[in-house]
Amino acid sequence: MAELKRSKITAVGHFLPEKRLTNHDLEQMVDTDDEWIKTRTGIEERRILEDEDKASAYMAAEAAKEVLDQRGISAEEIDVIIVATVTPDYLFPATACLVQNYIGAANAFGYDLSAACSGFLFALTTGSSLIEAGTAEKVLVIGSDKMSSIVDYTDRSTCILFGDGAGAVLLEPSDDGTGIIDSIQHSEGDTNCALYQPAGGSLNPASEDTVAQRQHFIKQDGRTVFKKATEGMADVSLEIMEKNNLSADDVAWLVPHQANKRIIDATANRMGLSSEKVMINIDKYGNTTAATIPLCLYDWKDELDHGDNLVLAAFGGGYTWGAIYLKWGL
Ligand code: ACO
Repeated sequence: MAELKRSKITAVGHFLPEKRLTNHDLEQMVDTDDEWIKTRTGIEERRILEDEDKASAYMAAEAAKEVLDQRGISAEEIDVIIVATVTPDYLFPATACLVQNYIGAANAFGYDLSAACSGFLFALTTGSSLIEAGTAEKVLVIGSDKMSSIVDYTDRSTCILFGDGAGAVLLEPSDDGTGIIDSIQHSEGDTNCALYQPAGGSLNPASEDTVAQRQHFIKQDGRTVFKKATEGMADVSLEIMEKNNLSADDVAWLVPHQANKRIIDATANRMGLSSEKVMINIDKYGNTTAATIPLCLYDWKDELDHGDNLVLAAFGGGYTWGAIYLKWGL
């Protein structure tokens, strides 16, 4: 049997809107305060895409263009575009097709992947499988979410959490032993709807009633999700370390989904990692859903060394959660 190829990340790009929504701004909008938000979540500000004619596809395309520039290749060379998002521009066509058009990736095919905050992690595993199987050589994996489009800015329990942004990576075959080595993915149907957007799908299509009841916004039972997320992210991070015989000393960096600093700290503690090995930028961007992990990789890319062991971990709506073990190949 032919040996499976391994894939590695060969470029990282990002897009963040200019507009900053600070905790002090939110104090003027809902009954909250800066200290509560910082203590409970670690967030100080988040970015908001204000242009009404721009959304997730635009941010994804800008991040993708940076990837192409960095790698010095043209868009025509891309084989596949996978966009992880819960805020697609339209229910259909796929955001990936809009991105293809924006960047001119005429030879690619693409599709969206919906796994909420685990979206980028699941998309990276999917893209990697396409390379391992020999189906593709250059795969753009993008996480992009305009969370401000589904956040209710009258609900203090959710509006403080989310921000807008996009991050993208290029996956290519690896021939130097670095790249994506292992991944674990889980899901568990959240039948109690602890985290969801009630309307806008086929069960509750948009109507005057759904709009009046503010059902096109995120609804979350924060405490329930917090408990599940803390358990899920820590468990799966340990699971991937044990499966690959990694000790805390072997792990150079934890790249966690940025939902709440307390969830990240609990995961790092369970893994036995000191805080210097944990990427945290939730203070600047909040929870950008599918974009948090690639935005971390972007912010830290100059500090990563070839061969560094990275553990990527996420938990999100669905529920969905998982981890990836990769050796940094840039
Ligand atoms: N400002 C001030 N007080 C607030 C605010 C606010 N913004 N929001 C809630 N409170 C109040 C509550 O009303 C409550 O008051 P009460 O005790 O009088 O009822 C009190 O603060 C405590 O509320 P909790 O919900 O218990 O606060 P908690 O410490 O759990 O923090 C939070 C809330 C930050 C939402 C936390 O539960 C959390 O981070 N949950 C997980 C979020 C997450 O990981 N989501 C998954 C990813 S998202 C995705 O997949 C799209």
